[in-house]
Parts: sequence; C-alpha cells; structure tokens
Amino acid sequence: MNLILLGAPGAGKGTQATKIAERYGIVHISTGDIFRANIKMGTEIGLLAKSYTEQGLLVPDEVTCAIVKDRLTWEDCQKGYLLDGFPRNLYQAEQLDTFAKIDGVVNINIDHKLLMDRLCGRRVCKECGESYHVSTLGGKTTCDRCGGELYQRKDDNPETVGARLAVYNEQTAPLIDYYSKKGLILNFTGSEAPAEVLFGEIKAVLDKFAK
Ligand code: AP5
Ligand code: MG
Repeated sequence: MNLILLGAPGAGKGTQATKIAERYGIVHISTGDIFRANIKMGTEIGLLAKSYTEQGLLVPDEVTCAIVKDRLTWEDCQKGYLLDGFPRNLYQAEQLDTFAKIDGVVNINIDHKLLMDRLCGRRVCKECGESYHVSTLGGKTTCDRCGGELYQRKDDNPETVGARLAVYNEQTAPLIDYYSKKGLILNFTGSEAPAEVLFGEIKAVLDKFAK
C-alpha cells in the first residue's frame, strides 16, 4: 500500500504517520524530517534546505523530487510507503506520477485557527521524533517514550508559521482537487478529535482499503 498524507502544517501528519506506518508495516518518509536530518549533519542538501525551511518556503522542486525518487528505490519501500509532506505542489505531484503508483491520499482537514497554537506550542523529541504540546507537558523537558530531550523546531515561530500556512494555501491545497479527480482522496477531520480518535477513524477506512 503506497499512501500520501496531505494536510496543512500542524494538521497532525507526522503524528498520524507514525501510527499508520506501524500498523500497516509500511515506511514513513517525511521530506521535512529528511531536510532536518541533513541540516543537522551539515550536508550540501542541508545547507541549501536551511535557508528555505527557516523562512517557511519550499525547498526547490528539483532537489526535493530527486531525493524522493531515490528514496523510493530503497529495498524497504517494497512493502509499501507513506509520503508525509510530499508532494507539496502540482509540479511535485506530476513528477511523482512518473515514478510511483499511489493507492490512496489521506487528507487531514483542519480549522486553520488551531494551527498557530499547535505549532508554536509543539515540542519534538530529538531522539525518536515524537511530538508533544507544551500545554500537556507540565514543564517536562524529556520524552515519555524514550527519555530523549525535547526541543522546539526553528520553523515553529509565529512569523514562519504564517509563511508556511500561506505556502500551503497557495501551493499545496490545490492537490486536494488533483487527487480527488483521480478518485484517490480519503477525507478526515482533524480539528476536534484527539490524535488517537482520529487514528481510529483513519484505521477504519485503511483496514478495508488494505484488503
Ligand atoms: P514539514 O516537516 O513537512 O512540516 P509541515 O508540513 O509544516 O508540517 P508539520 O510537521 O509542522 O506538521 P504536522 O502536520 O506533521 O503536525 P504534527 O503531527 O507534528 O516541512 C518543513 C519544511 O521542510 C517546509 O516548510 C519546507 O521548507 C520543507 N519541505 C518539506 N517537504 C517539502 C517538499 N515536498 N517540497 C519542498 N520543501 C519541503 O502535529 C502538530 C502539533 O499538533 C503537535 O504538537 C502535536 O502534538 C499536535 N497534534 C497532532 N494531532 C493532534 C490532535 N488530533 N489533537 C490535538 N493536537 C494534535
Ligand atoms: Mg510533520
């Protein structure tokens, strides 16, 4: 099963991706995580990506598409994969069509009024990547899952979040129509339901789909 996860920044893509990948034994591929890992390692891709991600802008298509095209040739993708954060514009979607066969697109719809608070309050584990929100941490600075240190992403500040939302509205939202026309969209609402409840809804649909 090859899936795409669509949704605005903070819609809960990463949160759901971990659960979906685990349940269906497929690989979670997040272009954002790939860029952050490259930035941390100081690679050439990382140096390029840094200036874009810190402004909330898209890393150039040629670079991003080449990374995903290569990643999908890895052995572990044979059992299926979940693309989180790719494609992010029509060009990337058209490129993806030339090297991948997608079975479904999980689209998390969300009230955008919730996103600023979700993102500016997010804390992420340096070790395992688990996301938390400051409002539920009670001052804790380590991860419940693995004990890793929690940090705040550089792009989780009001100015950059504003830019990321504008990019989503202009460039990524049209993909809902693109995949609807192909009959691939699976719509979910991420506004009210806690992550576990939303996952239950996604699972109910994907279980039937996976058969
Ligand atoms: P990326 O890392 O993909 O960031 P994003 O799309 O902005 O999305 P986020 O990771 O911020 O949000 P999410 O939907 O994963 O939410 P999460 O589950 O963490 O991209 C970063 C940058 O990389 C881009 O800006 C761009 O520069 C570059 N890039 C990446 N892909 C690219 C591409 N294809 N082309 C070009 N450039 C690219 O949840 C958010 C918060 O909400 C957390 O605190 C979480 O605990 C909480 N939460 C989650 N679910 C719920 C719930 N149900 N109820 C309450 N709270 C919840
Ligand atoms: Mg994410």
